[in-house]
Amino acid sequence: MTSFTPVSSVFGTSPADPDATWDPGSWQSFPAAQQPDWPEPERLAQTVDQLALLPPLVSGVESARLREALGAAAAGQGFLLQAGDCAESLRSFHAESVHHKVKVILQMATILAFGSGLPVIKVGRIAGQMAKPRSNPVEPVDGPDGPLVVPSYRGDMVNGSAPTPEARRPDPDRLLRAYYQSAASLNLLRTFTEHGFATLDEVHAWNRQYVGRTSERPSSDQRYVSLIDDMEHVVRYLGSHPGARTSELPDRGFDFFTSHEALILPYEQALTRWDPATGHWQDTSAHMVWIGERTRQLDGAHVEFAAGIDNPIGVKVGPGMTPEELLALCTRLDPTGLPGRLTLITRMGAGRIREALPPLVRAVREAGHPVLWVCDPMHGNTFTGESGLKTRRFADILDELRGFFEVHRSEGTHPGGVHLELTGEDVTECLGGSPEILDAHLATRYETACDPRLNRTQALELAFLTAEMLQR
Ligand code: PEP
Ligand code: CO
Repeated sequence: MTSFTPVSSVFGTSPADPDATWDPGSWQSFPAAQQPDWPEPERLAQTVDQLALLPPLVSGVESARLREALGAAAAGQGFLLQAGDCAESLRSFHAESVHHKVKVILQMATILAFGSGLPVIKVGRIAGQMAKPRSNPVEPVDGPDGPLVVPSYRGDMVNGSAPTPEARRPDPDRLLRAYYQSAASLNLLRTFTEHGFATLDEVHAWNRQYVGRTSERPSSDQRYVSLIDDMEHVVRYLGSHPGARTSELPDRGFDFFTSHEALILPYEQALTRWDPATGHWQDTSAHMVWIGERTRQLDGAHVEFAAGIDNPIGVKVGPGMTPEELLALCTRLDPTGLPGRLTLITRMGAGRIREALPPLVRAVREAGHPVLWVCDPMHGNTFTGESGLKTRRFADILDELRGFFEVHRSEGTHPGGVHLELTGEDVTECLGGSPEILDAHLATRYETACDPRLNRTQALELAFLTAEMLQR
């Protein structure tokens, strides 16, 4: 683990509790997996001191509102749509791409809400999703004078993706750039959500356009047409009964929350503040943060950090998780069983979910933890295609989702949400969907900074198929 100088001066407004066993830096006494090897620790410490004096990005009151919504979903009264980039880029950051992402997420949320009759909670992987855990700390590349080994790319918050030793050198200035970009994203998101993004009729018209295009495609499924026709009735009804509208509709004043993996702990520490309004420590870098599959060690720094903040916490749950380990994590991260505090994001792989998930669901149900179960059908289904590009099959993603619904239906628990990597653009990163993307098409528009994302059409198709599962 990288040694890191504790920040001493920045927590001036901490609670006057001399017995407190947790503070935003207490993770430093625990082993921290997946941290960059920062070449200049003193520059990192200076940057973190600087970050710690900058304004919070979100407030504890907002996070508490999200927690309430997630708590209702955990009790079966809601559905989480958590979606966005695998890794946001510092280089290609534009208002349009944020707009397109929000647009596709709103379209999906509308489809899911109509399908399920439940409020859909919209949480972006956005405004801070810029750090990546990696399977290998280094990567062999071709240098100008022959083969080289360079540090792996760890997300734009840490280093650059170009395969050169210079680009891959972790640079603390990137933490500041990530902070300011997150602030700019949030500013744009807040204008969308506060002043209205689109009317429900517009969102419905976009969805109808999508279905129109699908039904012209000979191989495509006509089932979406009947769902969109049903939606039409509701949209008309709401048009003439404005009082029946709820805050889930996108006209004005809707909620859109931010989230990212809390991976780079010095950054998260610097943005963790004592919130007098809630009387808790708040990680103000995002409304919700999650712990990844590679950093969820019970005695590790990430769990120690997350245990002390008041935000809603997600934990990725892979096929290697045991029921004992999961129960210990539930107790550690949510000792009082607070609804909405803990979201378990399963990412098993299509081939494993049907055996791996049931014992975990049973154990948590029997222990009485009020968790929200969410399916990430992306991260267990990644492989390298013939073209050499990392990809995922739409069919596998759909199959894992179906497995998730089957398991929860047979265990009597609520399939409470989906966690997706997607974009609002017409990229070619995942195989399949309709129109079908083939391995030979991948290179056409392969733009992700890390993992392959669903494109706009694939995302909408998946929303229609998920809405069908929710209807059943
Ligand atoms: C991710 O969500 O981008 C990720 C790396 O997931 P996981 O920790 O589940 O592999
Ligand atoms: Co990813």
